[in-house]
Amino acid sequence: MDAILIDGPSRLEGTVRVSGAKNAALPILAASVLAKGRMRLTNVPQVSDVFSMVRLLKSLGAKVGFEQGVVDIDTKSLNRNKADYRYVSTMRATVCLLGPLLARFGQALVSLPGGCVIGPRPIDLHIKGLRALGAEVNLEHGYVIAEAKKPLKGNVIYLGGAYGSSVLATANVLMTAVLAKGRTVIESAACEPEIVDLGKFLIRMGARIEGLGSPLIEIEGVKNLSPCDYDIIFDRIEAGSYMIAAAISRGDVTIRDVSVEALGAVADKLTEAGVQLRSNGNQLRIKSRSALKPVSVTTLAYPGFPTDLQAQMTALMSLTPGISVITEKIFPERFMHVSELNRMGAQIRLEGNNAIISGAKGLSGAPVMASDLRASAALVLAGLVAKGQTQVSRVYHLDRGYEGLVEKLKSLGAKIKRVKQ
Ligand code: UD1
Repeated sequence: MDAILIDGPSRLEGTVRVSGAKNAALPILAASVLAKGRMRLTNVPQVSDVFSMVRLLKSLGAKVGFEQGVVDIDTKSLNRNKADYRYVSTMRATVCLLGPLLARFGQALVSLPGGCVIGPRPIDLHIKGLRALGAEVNLEHGYVIAEAKKPLKGNVIYLGGAYGSSVLATANVLMTAVLAKGRTVIESAACEPEIVDLGKFLIRMGARIEGLGSPLIEIEGVKNLSPCDYDIIFDRIEAGSYMIAAAISRGDVTIRDVSVEALGAVADKLTEAGVQLRSNGNQLRIKSRSALKPVSVTTLAYPGFPTDLQAQMTALMSLTPGISVITEKIFPERFMHVSELNRMGAQIRLEGNNAIISGAKGLSGAPVMASDLRASAALVLAGLVAKGQTQVSRVYHLDRGYEGLVEKLKSLGAKIKRVKQ
């Protein structure tokens, strides 16, 4: 297993380009199942979650090549409808194959994704949505089995859950409804830019969709979809992570090929904390020299502050003088990074889904253990500014979603390397 070694403190300076969005690439790869033929996807991030999805598509019979951010996929030969446990157990997002396989074959079997360290991951909304379109959905032997005994038909579906909208449930229902007969309305749909990107891909394939980016998406089913090429949007979570890295290291970093609109809540909170942000076309410059101010952050569905940047923001606030409160409203148990940050000298107390942070004067490097993708990123950010050496183990979590993290941080001046443990 690899580890990341960071010698801190360092100040980040320079320009970095973010990769394509993992969370757009995964459902878009799943959606490729809906058409039969060759497609080329570009700006696809080379991260292990995408490799897992590629392996899964190959196991279903598709021909897939993936090099240098380009996926060439031929779905003509795809002839199996069972997403096997071997592939699904490593990544929860494979659940978004349920809708496309159901729409293509009239039956889909997808191994049930388990919970993970960020808390339980139910799929009741996915099931509710597919049932509303006329599918029979049962759980048997660890698999979700969805079956269209008669042709799927559009419906009005409310997809709000206890924690608001669901990104992948919206994706699943959207991908099924585009080929269902008649009109579907998804109420309380996820508004995330990655859902908009998936919708644009489906439209390019010939789907009829309106209301993308709003909580009300309307779909008029079509008979079939045609293969097409598509360029994936940038990863706003990766971009946000570099914004916070610039802020925590009191650095001066320009991020290329991003649009600040998708990062509104993050930009707002960083500005409130005293970080200077300037956007110029598709570039965003983040400068942070002075002492920052504490801010309170609540994670919410888009356009709220993303839960996927909560851990990184917690790291930033742990070095900001004063008291800040971070409230997690999407995954209330997502605080596995807190005890590790405290081992580095942070002063964070958990009360239910609130992290109450008393800004520390400094952090000190320590061996720390990453528990999930974004928690790992938070530990790397803390390591950048901690005095001495930080060793972040279980790097495979970071490999799931950050392309070239070590190289990118190194190019910005961090003293960071990857080693075999
Ligand atoms: C996606 C993202 C993930 C991000 C999350 C929230 C991908 C591949 N992953 O995950 O990085 O952290 O959105 O922005 O895009 N819920 C239910 N029932 C369901 C489904 C979800 O109650 O059937 C709950 C979840 O437990 C959670 C909330 O809804 O509390 C939002 O989760 P959801 O948007 O579904 O997360 P994912 O789509 O799995």
